[in-house]
Amino acid sequence: MIRICPSILNANFEDLPGEIARVAMSADLLHLDVMDNVFVPNFTFDLNKSKEIIEASALPVDVHLMIAEADKHAAHYAFENTASITVHYEACEDPRNTLLNIRAQGKRSGIAVKPNTPIEVVEELLDAIDMILVMTVEPGFGGQSFMENMMPKVAKARHWLQQKGLSDTWLQVDGGIALPTIRTAYLAGADTFVAGSAVYKHSDPAEMVEMLRREALRTE
Ligand code: DX5
Ligand code: ZN
Repeated sequence: MIRICPSILNANFEDLPGEIARVAMSADLLHLDVMDNVFVPNFTFDLNKSKEIIEASALPVDVHLMIAEADKHAAHYAFENTASITVHYEACEDPRNTLLNIRAQGKRSGIAVKPNTPIEVVEELLDAIDMILVMTVEPGFGGQSFMENMMPKVAKARHWLQQKGLSDTWLQVDGGIALPTIRTAYLAGADTFVAGSAVYKHSDPAEMVEMLRREALRTE
């Protein structure tokens, strides 16, 4: 069982409900990249705009917060159509408390690590985590190249989840996921895949979601 989560970062911002509807039949979750121009050098949506997008989304939403002081803000993104809220380890003062606050809102709790953050920081938090996000680019922009050298982090996280019997904890990769890279991330142990430009630069985004799924799971 894998999940494909299109990111609308590189979609047409003038018609986000329409862009989301294009993948609603084939994708599992919509990935919403919230950037504050502080934690990352880019700005996307404030809380009000995020709320508007989440409420209008035809898919449950996987919120990726690339914002500073995530502890303060994370729980505010728990709208009815929010499925999960992911905070960056680097942006939290008390990651455990923040993850538990997300769960207390009835949402899946996610923790993300930037490329230079060792995966070991999440190990002691595993009991509070519903999804680990291993960034496979520096957060901030879509369309960057997949960092294959992040695969040992994915493999290590997969090993912990197996060893501890945490079969409901998802393992996500985000950045540069496309047909040439998704299989590598799948084989390393990822089960949840964000794809932005690969999906929205394709003439048929829904078809690309299916192609990505087939490529990850191919048997030969
Ligand atoms: C990057 C964002 C990603 C981005 C992925 O900071 O977190 O979700 O949209 O875009 P692609 O798939 O184009 O690398
Ligand atoms: Zn993202």
